[in-house]
Amino acid sequence: MCGIIAYLGKKVAQPILIEALKRLEYRGYDSAGVALLGSGAIRIKKTSGRISALEKILDEPDAAETLGIGHTRWATHGKPSTINAHPHLDYTGKIAVVHNGIIENYGTLKTWLQNEGAAFASETDTEVIANLIGYFYAKGDSEEEQKKSDGQNKFEWSVQRALQEMHGTFGLAIVCSDFPDTIIGAKRGSPLILGVGDNEYILASDAAAIVEHTTQAIYLADNEMVTINPEGFHTKTIDNITISKELKQIEFSLEQIELGDFPHHMLKEIFEQPKALSTCMGGRIDSRNNRIKLGGIDSYLRELTRTKRLILIACGTAFHAGLVGEFLFEQLARIPAETEYASEFRYRNPIIEDGTVVISISQSGETIDTLAAVEEAKERGATVLGIVNVVGSSIARTTDTGIYLHAGPEIGVASTKAFTAQVAVLTMLAIELGRRRHIRSDQASKYIDELSQIPDKISQILNQSDHIKQIASANIDQDNWLFLGRGFNYPVALEGALKLKEISYIHAEGLPAAEMKHGPIALIVDGMPVVFIATAGPQYNKIMGNIAEVRARGGKTIVVATEGDENIKQHADHLITIPDVPEFLQPMLTVVPLQLLAYHAAVLRDHDVDKPRNLAKSVTVE
Ligand code: M6R
Repeated sequence: MCGIIAYLGKKVAQPILIEALKRLEYRGYDSAGVALLGSGAIRIKKTSGRISALEKILDEPDAAETLGIGHTRWATHGKPSTINAHPHLDYTGKIAVVHNGIIENYGTLKTWLQNEGAAFASETDTEVIANLIGYFYAKGDSEEEQKKSDGQNKFEWSVQRALQEMHGTFGLAIVCSDFPDTIIGAKRGSPLILGVGDNEYILASDAAAIVEHTTQAIYLADNEMVTINPEGFHTKTIDNITISKELKQIEFSLEQIELGDFPHHMLKEIFEQPKALSTCMGGRIDSRNNRIKLGGIDSYLRELTRTKRLILIACGTAFHAGLVGEFLFEQLARIPAETEYASEFRYRNPIIEDGTVVISISQSGETIDTLAAVEEAKERGATVLGIVNVVGSSIARTTDTGIYLHAGPEIGVASTKAFTAQVAVLTMLAIELGRRRHIRSDQASKYIDELSQIPDKISQILNQSDHIKQIASANIDQDNWLFLGRGFNYPVALEGALKLKEISYIHAEGLPAAEMKHGPIALIVDGMPVVFIATAGPQYNKIMGNIAEVRARGGKTIVVATEGDENIKQHADHLITIPDVPEFLQPMLTVVPLQLLAYHAAVLRDHDVDKPRNLAKSVTVE
């Protein structure tokens, strides 16, 4: 979703803003723009389309412009167009704003401002912010308003006044032509981080745009604002209460977010999975004592061990990881568990009984539906645990306790290594709770040993990438695919279909294999690809029956099976194998060929894998 950047320092701002916007591209966007200050009036350049289109319309960088704001827009209110692109200038021409979020009462505010004489050029909610700040800024000239401003500068006061009227969410960077050395940032519901460098400041929606300059940062919380100028910065609430914020270390390096030798971030991240999982599990697996150590949740382990019911909440890929978790907690820990879409959970009047623990899963830690569901669960008295990748993100800060994935930054819009790391964390938690509740020590030791071998086994699957590319190529003209699995591999079937849809734009459905007969079997026509996860396990014979049903109707079977399964060969048009592991560990392996299949299909169809149409990496609006 929208990406915000602001720079204040001694360097020429324009190239810094453009580089930073490129780092934010992965969030998803349809237009981009910058506003620069230093030589008088605010100079705005913006356009619909990619950053490359913006670069084409930029003037030569002006050495006097050492301050500026920039934006990548993911359209919500108003179509993608140059006029709707940010930055937005207010009707007085003095205030420029970039915004991530949604102003829910923008309609009422817009009508009121229009009645007060403010002109609007765009269809966006953001222009209301610019105009309202501009309105208060103009009005603040009166003696009475000046008195109310309590000695603050007029710019800061106007921002506060405007934000107090806003309902909804915002991450903002704001400049004013009367204060050419000042940037104001403010946040409610959308992320905002201030990178603090050597005589320079970078305000951004996420750390990827900051690490090139500094790894020291402050994370703004909701209803907080920061005013930055060459002398330093100060933080306040939007109600004007001064607060002090701790400087934190950003935990990843520039190298981790660069492509290296890979053509796409998605492929890089698929191949990073062995390392990501080793890091995720390293230090947590205590093989000597047959235990899993999850330091972050130590003080909650007794409550978790005694819990009567687990509710897992998440969206998209993280939801599929949650579904795997449901199987894991029931089978290994014997704890009733259910997984819910975060967006449904929060509006469903959910029942939280004594002893219910909610687990929220999110790569970004910023997904607004998941964040809102966490708040809902807490309000209803649940203890909420977060399984999150991005350190210091909103969900990580809002949950009572949590386990970080430590999978490294995930830039590809299609989530891959985060999924396997989420499942790895859920597996560790389920084994540890199981060990505390009922699993014998020798059994736990066996599970832990098998889990620790997963990264190597993923490496073996990655060697089949070229073979999987051939399978994608043989089926690339097909526009409808099915993905079928049972038990632990049913969520993997859903995930395989989601991956194919989001980057290849091929219609795909994922289903528990037995459900096929209850309707979707009608879709099967000659040559339609049906991906089966038919690995060794209690449901193997049942899924063989489903394969026969598909073949009898002319469907083409792409089968993910266990190495050494000779029988399967005669039933598969295309075969991909995974090493033999117990069923509960299979999802971390069976998902890998499906990620590769989707990746190769998207490349073969000539799609921009890391910037799929209409999609955003972290969905920060409802
Ligand atoms: O950051 P989160 O894990 O909370 O994101 C949830 C979904 O938006 C995300 O998994 C999405 O479905 C991905 N594009 C899937 O690849």
